Amino acid sequence: MLDNKEYLTPRQIVAELDKYIIGQQDAKRNVAIALRNRWRRMNVKSDMQREIVPNNILMIGATGVGKTEIARRLAKVANAPFVKVEASKFTEVGYVGRDVESMIRDLVEQAVKLVKTEKKEEVKIKAEQIVEDIILDALIPPIKNKNHQTSSSPSLGYSTSSGSDMPESDIELNERTRERFRVKLKNGELEDRKIDIVVEGNNNPGVGVVGGAIDEVSMMNLQEMLSGMLPKRTKKRKVTIEEARKILFEEESAKLIDMDEVKDIAIQRAENTGIVFIDEIDKVASSSSRSGGGGADVSREGVQRDLLPIVEGSAVTTKHGIVNTDHILFVAAGAFHVAKPSDLIPELQGRFPIRVELSSLTKDDFVKILQEPKNALTKQYEALLAAEGVSLEYHPDAIETLAEIAYQINTEVENIGARRLHTVMSHLLNEFLFDVPDVISPNAKIVVTKELVEQKLSSLSKNKDLSHYIL
Ligand SMILES: Nc1ncnc2c1ncn2[C@@H]1O[C@H](COP(=O)(O)OP(=O)(O)OP(=O)(O)O)[C@@H](O)[C@H]1O
Ligand SMILES: [Mg+2]
Repeated sequence: MLDNKEYLTPRQIVAELDKYIIGQQDAKRNVAIALRNRWRRMNVKSDMQREIVPNNILMIGATGVGKTEIARRLAKVANAPFVKVEASKFTEVGYVGRDVESMIRDLVEQAVKLVKTEKKEEVKIKAEQIVEDIILDALIPPIKNKNHQTSSSPSLGYSTSSGSDMPESDIELNERTRERFRVKLKNGELEDRKIDIVVEGNNNPGVGVVGGAIDEVSMMNLQEMLSGMLPKRTKKRKVTIEEARKILFEEESAKLIDMDEVKDIAIQRAENTGIVFIDEIDKVASSSSRSGGGGADVSREGVQRDLLPIVEGSAVTTKHGIVNTDHILFVAAGAFHVAKPSDLIPELQGRFPIRVELSSLTKDDFVKILQEPKNALTKQYEALLAAEGVSLEYHPDAIETLAEIAYQINTEVENIGARRLHTVMSHLLNEFLFDVPDVISPNAKIVVTKELVEQKLSSLSKNKDLSHYIL
């Protein structure tokens, strides 16, 4: 399972992140090391393996500089189960709200999804064959060879079929027709034709518990158990062959997958490669300047205390089984504008030994962010307009000006990092987006020049009151 090829080296990880995130090398290097260390640990042969725990990371940086983006891309690179949670959404155990253990349950849910997708890929060819047979049966039902049936039970001494014996030729004809249609099916010639299929109906018993005397996990178990006990409801539907393929594929591949195996693998995956990203950790830190012993601070500390065992390593019960959190990698992030990392309770600070600071973005960063990432905003708008047959082109000095304006508004009004580029770009292009295709017809070409940018944005960016609202 731990094949070297699938696991990127730290440099490869950083190169992968570079495709989406500009700058922030320090953060990238540290997450790359943490990720590679998981693989290293799994390949440690001795008892030392159990001793090596991940070095959790605390990312510190102003809003919109790429904290969440790094974590999100990291999970993609790692092909690992990943959840992102907001620390401020949790409440201390005993209060109404989400308890911190739910993040681990979500992680396992993700892992199950991941493993299921992989397994589905494994059984794909087999499932597709079965689906083809089902569709073929619906199109040209096979003729049962009754002669064969009777001859296989000669003890009866007489034919059980009452005059439905088919002449050989009919059976042959039926077979030939089926084969002809099988070819047509394979060539996708019949996709629009409608057929009747039998599908499993939704069998959720919809159990409701009054009084909340039961926790989330037992509730889910109960529902699963009940839906397994009730007879499967089936339903006939008329759909096109194209749709039938999709519906039947889901059903048939599910039948071919061993869910117990999926659960076991998923738990292992979550335990050994899972990544939990805890955003807004600074929101549960109580800033020392305001610690007058207020109620809010007490409950925040409660959340931190609840986080401790999970981050340090404990067993969490999920509906798929018990998950050990010892080796899950936790990445926490926060802007820490008001509260400081030192305002977190000391035990929690210790659980996040690696601190990385993300730098504020400069105008030059903005120029790159606008153009270079695979999902760069300029490319996104290009793609949107291309869908209408309209091409969009940017002059280099227009990009410079855009970055300049975004940077200026960030310094003068409020620093929201690269998110500013979204508002600036949408304001720049909104009118075009509205006019296509009614006024601006397909095949047109829109060129974003420096003059255009200035005309659309400069007056706004100079007027502080206006930019407060619009940009
Ligand atoms: N360094 C960067 N390179 C490329 N894109 C970036 C960078 N920083 C931010 N962005 C873009 O800006 C947007 C916001 O970034 P992100 O969600 O990572 O912010 P954040 O640091 O998590 O902020 P917050 O503290 O508000 O959660 C994303 O759309 C992301 O693509
Ligand atoms: Mg974020």
